Amino acid sequence: MRAREIKKGIYWVGAIDWNLRNFHGYLTQKGSTYNAYLIIDEKITLVDTVKHYLFEEMLERIKTVVDPARIEYIISNHVEMDHSGSLPKILKIAKNAKVVTSPNGEKGLKAHFKQDFNFQIVNTLDKLNTGTREFEFVLTPMVHWPDSMVTYVRQDKLLFSNDAFGQHIASSQRFDDEVGFDIARSEAAKYYANIVLPYANQVKKALADLSGLDIDLIAPSHGIIWRSHLKEIVGLYKNWADNQTDEKAMIVYDSMWHSTEKISGVIGEAFDSLDLQVNFFNLQTNHISDIMAELLSAKYICVGSPTLNNNMLPTVAAFLTYMKGLAPKKRIGLAFGSYGWGGQSIVQIEEVLKGCGFSTLENIKVKYIPDKDTFSAIKDKIKAQLRSNPKA
Ligand code: FEO
Repeated sequence: MRAREIKKGIYWVGAIDWNLRNFHGYLTQKGSTYNAYLIIDEKITLVDTVKHYLFEEMLERIKTVVDPARIEYIISNHVEMDHSGSLPKILKIAKNAKVVTSPNGEKGLKAHFKQDFNFQIVNTLDKLNTGTREFEFVLTPMVHWPDSMVTYVRQDKLLFSNDAFGQHIASSQRFDDEVGFDIARSEAAKYYANIVLPYANQVKKALADLSGLDIDLIAPSHGIIWRSHLKEIVGLYKNWADNQTDEKAMIVYDSMWHSTEKISGVIGEAFDSLDLQVNFFNLQTNHISDIMAELLSAKYICVGSPTLNNNMLPTVAAFLTYMKGLAPKKRIGLAFGSYGWGGQSIVQIEEVLKGCGFSTLENIKVKYIPDKDTFSAIKDKIKAQLRSNPKA
């Protein structure tokens, strides 16, 4: 286990969770890391910790640089247990260390661990001097918990951004240019879509608060560190926080006897015939967290289900519940499906899409099995609406 020096005197000492595949419902195909950082100065500081079961890994890395008993400050940017889970364990070794955290951080840590620590509470603009460096704090509440904050080191032009700008990637490589921008960007997008998306207003505020800082390294608490593509990732965060989308469609559906699936196909043809990109997501074969990654940039969200026992299929209901909670904005929805006698599923889907604040195209409801004439009527109806350039 080696520590990795990311700037002179600043080390990555986190842990790599190679086998993580489920992060409370988020499919993490590439695993993840919990990034902790050790800063060697007159007073030694640790920024964040790791999940409890990877404590020994973090400890070993710290030991390659310094005796962990010498740590005097532990900055806790975020209470959630992937970053604070090892706090009590490291405090048993660094017995006199102060826990530097936000006011909500103190409340959250006490509530989780049912014990008190030697806290030093900080607010935005507060500073912590460790000798040759000064740590500056910016509270970023609800990006993505009430306690969240980021820490800036002016002397090193370094931002410890905690969950913001993170990605779930397990890798022995530490930097964006090492894993490659395409992978880093795509995992950062999936991360944003599944974790940060509901907090667009708070992200905008945080970006405004950080805009005056001179930064050449963003060190998040998951995945790789941004050193070569800072402009790009900050630009993407601005776009995502604005709910900017591309002129493209996604079709999310489940089917019983393939009628709804056939309708999804003809809806796709309608978009394609107008040169709009379209992507299909059968809920039997796609994970909702991957669907959200695509939804981050898709303007048209088409959702289909047949009617089963007066309801939409449970897979579709699960997707809609998940999507609604993540609160995407500025989209155009389309509900569709086949039915035998009730047809309630289509209306239910449309209600959810409208409840998300989406404008909607006219829904598509087909009794039993669509035929050739139905297909062409569906196609014409969608094309006519798209040509009239509906507003999101
Ligand atoms: Fe990575 Fe909100 O914890």
